[in-house]
Amino acid sequence: MRKLLLQLDSSRLPSVFDQVVAYDAGADAIMSYAGVTEGDVRDLIHGCIFTRGAKDLHNTAVWIGGNNMSAGEQLLAMAQDALFAPFSVSIMLDSNGSNTTAVAAVVKIEETLGDLHGKRAVILAGTGPVGQRAAGLLAKDGAHVTITSRKPEQGDKARQFIAARFDVEVDVVALTEPSKLPALLEGAAILLNSGPAGVQMVPSSAWSAAKALEIAVDLNAVPPLGIEGVDVDDAGVERNGVTVFGAFGIGNFKTKLHKKCVAKLFTRNDLVLDAEAIAEVARGMVKQKR
Ligand SMILES: NC(=O)c1ccc[n+]([C@@H]2O[C@H](COP(=O)([O-])OP(=O)(O)OC[C@H]3O[C@@H](n4cnc5c(N)ncnc54)[C@H](OP(=O)(O)O)[C@@H]3O)[C@@H](O)[C@H]2O)c1
Repeated sequence: MRKLLLQLDSSRLPSVFDQVVAYDAGADAIMSYAGVTEGDVRDLIHGCIFTRGAKDLHNTAVWIGGNNMSAGEQLLAMAQDALFAPFSVSIMLDSNGSNTTAVAAVVKIEETLGDLHGKRAVILAGTGPVGQRAAGLLAKDGAHVTITSRKPEQGDKARQFIAARFDVEVDVVALTEPSKLPALLEGAAILLNSGPAGVQMVPSSAWSAAKALEIAVDLNAVPPLGIEGVDVDDAGVERNGVTVFGAFGIGNFKTKLHKKCVAKLFTRNDLVLDAEAIAEVARGMVKQKR
């Protein structure tokens, strides 16, 4: 039976990136819908669950993407609401790659440092979809997380989203200029840059002076890179006594994880792959590699 992936994308055009990865992960056909809103979801999901017998429903799965993470979260909630036993299909949420990217970074941090309880983590520009997901996961790991934002009200909004979604508390610091970074990084073991593409967030002098720093991860692949002195291809190398990962160092693992998750959707019909479940898949991949 052919493996069919229903792509529900909240953006105007359905993501080509998500389609290519889905084919590479084993989907035989992708049924793509763009500009999907909450009101569209129920009938689209019913088209999946009433067409094949319950025992064959693991051959149909749902992918939720698009630029906007909160729109994706709403589509996921609506899709789950439309399912009822035994008529169920597996679903994955990865709006703008935020879950797989954040998970890839967090699991590389876990792999490098081990137990994160009590470690201080600073997530720069942690108000975006990737930063928020990473903040929630690191806080769930027991780290004391601080996210930064240029705007206090934006930071506070993100803090509330993270608390509501992950049931954890994170701190917020308004960061408008790099001169404040050395004080912010004092005592921090983990530095994660989730700032936008093409913006340098950290000059090398700011992180090379941070004595407690054990790992620095930059997710920006577009020059100028986010953390000066961390190369885009760095994947666990040591620089200034700190283990560093660049955007491709994380991105390679992210792509493998993305494919693994899509393939997993077709193994059963009751999976919901959001941040925590995707993290479990990633941790399994790390264990298997050992
Ligand atoms: N390696 C991969 O596979 C992969 C996959 C997906 C994404 N990424 C990368 O991950 C990073 C985070 O992605 P995202 O979608 O979460 O980011 P984003 O939403 O584009 O940006 C994150 C935050 O950056 C801040 N910001 C925006 N413009 C800024 C500027 N000029 N200077 C300083 N801060 C600025 C904003 O926060 P405030 O307004 O609150 O300051 C924004 O909320 C990006 O670099 C993206 O390219 C990598």
